Formats: sequence, C-alpha cells, structure tokens
Amino acid sequence: MPFPMKETAQMRDVGEPESRPPNLKVFVSRRLPEAVERRAERYELIMNKEDVVLSPMELAEAALNCDYIVTSAMQPIPRSVFERLKGTLKAIGTLSVGYNHIDLEAARECGVAVFYSPGVLSEACADLAVMLMLNAARRAHEADALMRSGKWTGFAPTQLLGISLTGRRAGILGMGRIGQAVARRLAAFGMKLHYHNRRALSPDESIGATYHPTAEALLEVSDVLFLLAPGSAELVKFLDRRRISLLPADSVIVNISRGETIDDDALIEALQSNRIFAAGLDVFTDEPNFDPRYKALHNVFLTPHIASATVDTRNAMGFLVLDGFLAFEQGRKADNQLC
Ligand code: DGY
Repeated sequence: MPFPMKETAQMRDVGEPESRPPNLKVFVSRRLPEAVERRAERYELIMNKEDVVLSPMELAEAALNCDYIVTSAMQPIPRSVFERLKGTLKAIGTLSVGYNHIDLEAARECGVAVFYSPGVLSEACADLAVMLMLNAARRAHEADALMRSGKWTGFAPTQLLGISLTGRRAGILGMGRIGQAVARRLAAFGMKLHYHNRRALSPDESIGATYHPTAEALLEVSDVLFLLAPGSAELVKFLDRRRISLLPADSVIVNISRGETIDDDALIEALQSNRIFAAGLDVFTDEPNFDPRYKALHNVFLTPHIASATVDTRNAMGFLVLDGFLAFEQGRKADNQLC
C-alpha cells in the first residue's frame, strides 16, 4: 500500500504570510518552529518567552484581551481559562492531534472555536513508534551504553540478546490514521497485524490486520502492543495489572498516545519481574515528572514526548492551525475545527 502523498506535499509548503494583516492579537503559549512563527506574524503576537507550560491562571492573565491562543499538547486549558477570557477570546489552535488538554465543552459554551492538527503528523508518529519497538526489542539503548562505557570486551554469542520481530504479532490499540501508518510499516517487517477499534475498518483501511472486538482479545495476541488510541478519561490506567497479565510472555509494549493510559505501578512491576520483555515509552503520566523508577530499569527505552518532532511535521502542524484561523476569519469551517 503506497504512503499517502498528501501529508508530505503539505509538509513542504513553506507557509507564506497572508497579505492583509487582520488586526488580531494572538497569545502564543509555546515557541513555534521558525517558519510557523514567521507566518503567524500577520497577527500581533504576544509570546510566552519562557516557553514553559503555564498554570491556567497564568495563561488566562497572559492572554487577556487576545483574540486567539496558539498552544500545544500538555498545556491545560480548563474551564476557568474560558470563563476568564469570555467575550474576548475567539479561537484556540493547538499544535497537536490530541486535545484532551482542552475543555471542549467549556469552549463551546463560551463560543470559542478550537482547531487542532490531525493528519499531518501520522507518518512521523508512526516512525517513532517503530523506533521504540526496535529499540526495546533489540536493546539498542543498552548496546549504546555498553559502547560508551569502555567495557565492551568484544563479540559474544550470548551478548545483548533481543527478540526477533518477523512473524510476531503486533497488536494495535487505536487503528486511526497513526495506527494505519504504523501497520504499513510493520507489514514490511513481516509482522502479523491485529487491531482493536470501536468499529472494524474496511479492508483497505485495515492493511490486512485482524479485527478484535474487545481490547482484551487484542491483548491476548499482542507480542508487541502499540498504544495509539487518543488520550481520554475512559483510558486512564487502561493497561493495568489485569490487562498486562493477558499479554503473551516476552511481549513488548510501545506507548505514544498519553502516559495516563498506563498504570505505572503495574508496568514497572511487569518490567522488574521480566513478565514482559521490554517497553518503549514516549509519553508519561505527569510529564515531565515521570516515574523515576523507569530510570533504573534496563528493559525500558525512554523518549521525551517527541513522536511528532520533525521540522517538516511541526511546520505542517503549525500551518494547519493557522489555516484554520484563516478559514475562521473568512467565515468558513475548516476540517480541523473541533468546535
Ligand atoms: C499530539 O499531537 O497530541 C502529540 O502528543 C504532540 O504533538
């Protein structure tokens, strides 16, 4: 199955500034890639120069009298922010596919439009998911640490044995755009594909993967489990002791959705006891203060929430949000408008 070209074509668009400035004030809660900031300069920009996550109160104060807010994943925007900015705030754009950090109901009630950036980050996220799988399964970080330690004594037949992936079963929880991009890559590794979603997909969308109507049934066949479902209240601590016990022996767990999807106590216990072989994690509960016990485990590969972190992808995410604002100004509803 060919890779979707729409994504790459869109990502190469440099995003020229629109000609007529609309006289709107925008609070930018995190620094954006250079090309995105350049294109956003058609607005009067108020930047959060510290480039840190703000408390809801700090955010509301900083964005007072602004028409729009540009933000990203992990910046909480609860009801209190919408209530404080009611009457002036017209729209929020988040450079993320996830929007669990924004109270959409409050946005709707306060008449604030919300834009997000789906579609343009699927391929980059899928690359990172595969990178986590490979690193965890082949113990790449341990190998790298050994090379740097000066303690490598040379080849040994039993050194750093990982697990083979060809012929193993990949279980994809959440077969949306990112799940399908992961599935296309895993098919090339010769893995057997399985997935769970709310509904079964058409054969074209499912890349030949077998559908499981329950998450539990999927876990039972997941030699490598990919947690790709969007973060939501229902999925908090989804992967708990009971569900980990359903996984086959020596399984690998990959998480690029939201850290809260995993019960850290349960996963750490399973890694410590070698109940599972390894995990590759890009997202964590309470980022950046992730559970320090992970650092002591040799069988977990950790990355700092970088699944969509390529220049092309972040540019495309920023341009999509700005395109949404432009459509809003022109009285059109963009596809990436959530409410
Ligand atoms: C998202 O898009 O939701 C990621 O977590 C950050 O880019």
